[in-house]
Amino acid sequence: MTQASLAALARPPSHLPTAPQLLAIASGKGGVGKTWLAITLSHAMARAGGKVLLFDGDLGLANVDVQLGLSAERDVSGVLSGAYSLADAAVEYPEGGFSIVAGRSGTGSLAAVPSERLRGLASQLLKLAPSYDRVLLDLGAGIERTVRQIAGLAGTCLVVTNDEPTALTDAYAFIKLAVLHNRAVDIRVVVNQASSPGEGERTYNTLRKACETFLKVAPPLAGVIRRDPKVKESIRAQTPLLLRYPNAPAALDVEALAAGLLRSG
Ligand SMILES: Nc1ncnc2c1ncn2[C@@H]1O[C@H](COP(=O)(O)OP(=O)(O)OP(=O)(O)O)[C@@H](O)[C@H]1O
Ligand SMILES: [Mg+2]
Repeated sequence: MTQASLAALARPPSHLPTAPQLLAIASGKGGVGKTWLAITLSHAMARAGGKVLLFDGDLGLANVDVQLGLSAERDVSGVLSGAYSLADAAVEYPEGGFSIVAGRSGTGSLAAVPSERLRGLASQLLKLAPSYDRVLLDLGAGIERTVRQIAGLAGTCLVVTNDEPTALTDAYAFIKLAVLHNRAVDIRVVVNQASSPGEGERTYNTLRKACETFLKVAPPLAGVIRRDPKVKESIRAQTPLLLRYPNAPAALDVEALAAGLLRSG
């Protein structure tokens, strides 16, 4: 990405307040495990006793419902079109003990949503958030304005990466734009698909050093999730990992991540 296009992307999205209950899950690069993490983290936080809502904010390739084998009658596209409210689109997911607002595959990317509708959705999210302990936002890949606009509502933003150079570069670009927009932004890093906790920390340190050198910020490490074949297996079975394999390494890592996030507020 060129400096000029980064500068254009850095134009601040229209200002909206943040809600401390909102936890955005972003990455930059696609396919690093955001949706799986958003589901599993929602589940872990619900198991810890929280009232949790998972919002599928990936309008292009929504797949919270696919990963869980749900067919939701209402989804975010109906909220955007004004057919019903965001609160009315939330459905219970009893197996997980949390609620879900489903996305909708094939409705195009967030970028295609008129900004007025996006603002309407944003203000509904801010209004609904306080009725939950945590609202997790599964964002689409990329660093386009609309993705950052939704991420900007969140009190905390988890940036997910793995050890691939492209994932690290895109995570850095996401962090850079978020920091340019708001230096006080609470960004934390999650390294997913790590071959070991130590490797995960090394990956994090690479990203942290770039942030320190060029942005003068050091987003903390929220957690390392190990690469685990049980993840794919449980997705294939459309059953949450914490139900199917509660003692799998990735399950334990997400439980630890959830506990850390709940402790730190
Ligand atoms: N810790 C892990 N161990 C092994 N495989 C994993 C792990 N995390 C994610 N995966 C694999 O990565 C795949 C992609 O995950 P997911 O769909 O959640 O990514 P995403 O970041 O949401 O992608 P997109 O950017 O397209 O929305 C999953 O299908 C799963 O097989
Ligand atoms: Mg996804």
